[in-house]
Amino acid sequence: MRVAVFSAKPYDREFLEVANRAAGSPHRFEWIVAHLDSRSALQAAGAEAACLFVNDQADAAALATLQSQGTRLIALRCAGFNNVDLLAAAELGIAVGRVPSYAPEAVAEHAAALVLSLSRRMHRAYARVREGNFALDGLLGLDLHGRTVGIVGTGQIGLAFARIMAGFGCRILAHDPAPDSGAADRIGLSYAPLAAVFAEADILSLHCPLMPETRRLIDAEALARMKRGAMLINTSRGAMLDTQAVIAALKSGHLGHLGLDVYEEEAGLFFEDLSASVLQDDVFARLLTFPNVLITGHQGFFTRGAMQAIAETTIANLQAFVSGGQPLHPVALPAGGGIRGGTIEPSR
Ligand code: NAI
Repeated sequence: MRVAVFSAKPYDREFLEVANRAAGSPHRFEWIVAHLDSRSALQAAGAEAACLFVNDQADAAALATLQSQGTRLIALRCAGFNNVDLLAAAELGIAVGRVPSYAPEAVAEHAAALVLSLSRRMHRAYARVREGNFALDGLLGLDLHGRTVGIVGTGQIGLAFARIMAGFGCRILAHDPAPDSGAADRIGLSYAPLAAVFAEADILSLHCPLMPETRRLIDAEALARMKRGAMLINTSRGAMLDTQAVIAALKSGHLGHLGLDVYEEEAGLFFEDLSASVLQDDVFARLLTFPNVLITGHQGFFTRGAMQAIAETTIANLQAFVSGGQPLHPVALPAGGGIRGGTIEPSR
């Protein structure tokens, strides 16, 4: 099958080519650097499938162009499908497949890396030693052993993070509307109301999906409930934080450390090399000025194991579509109506 791969990076090419070869090279890829939109869709002329990532906009206009040129399948190489207009896809007869789960440990380990870097000030120590500055002032660390780690969302990633932090001797306090009592017993975590998790956590890490109830979950009120000097980690979705309130809490010293792998306005920043351009986002620029803030550009998923899993599942989706007309992991139109792109925000 001819597959147009949008937002194609060298690493996408590397892993998809290996997975395709392992399946006997049934697919021919066209690598399109641009994100999908209604104009770039023209570059996929003749491709039966379009393979998309998180910043590709499969809105009704882009889908109509793709369909008019022969595309019958959208193969997402991510779990989230909030960037696809599912109703338009269904109307146009385009099937949609995704990668529902891949290496949750990768994201959990990245969250743990943020905790360790911040707690021992690794980001500052690294720069200092390279400059020949071996002074310790300002590098005083935080012991993890015996601290309380608050986890919001105990799905695949939240539980993997809980296991890691329990290994450091932390007490784990979690909140989830659908608690997993079996996992709680195995890991030794306790569930508590959200207010108690906010109040007791020395380190608070977010692992729930972005939904109307979790948008701005960490606002000025939530921050005020947190312990003075607490650490906040967000590897889930940027819009779960009220970033202005977080900046105010950092300025006052109430929030002690902040580790982010996601940012609400990341679509215009992350995944690209902007080092030669002037940063236009003043809120993001302010975050970068704090010595106790560490930001990575949505790389939690970016490990060899996770990339292999994404590529293999994508090939499996393509194969199933060729043989049976449906991807292996289809995205169904929700009962009671369609999703216009951007109205729901499931996990990535
Ligand atoms: P999951 O679906 O396995 O778990 C999500 C958990 O959140 C579930 O247990 C659910 O009951 C819980 N939840 C739902 N509403 C909640 C609420 N209001 N309060 C507390 N908990 C709530 O999802 P998974 O795979 O663990 O992913 C979690 C999040 O991680 C994703 O939604 C995504 O935003 C983010 N993610 C980030 C990546 C990165 O590269 N930084 C990569 C993959 C996912």
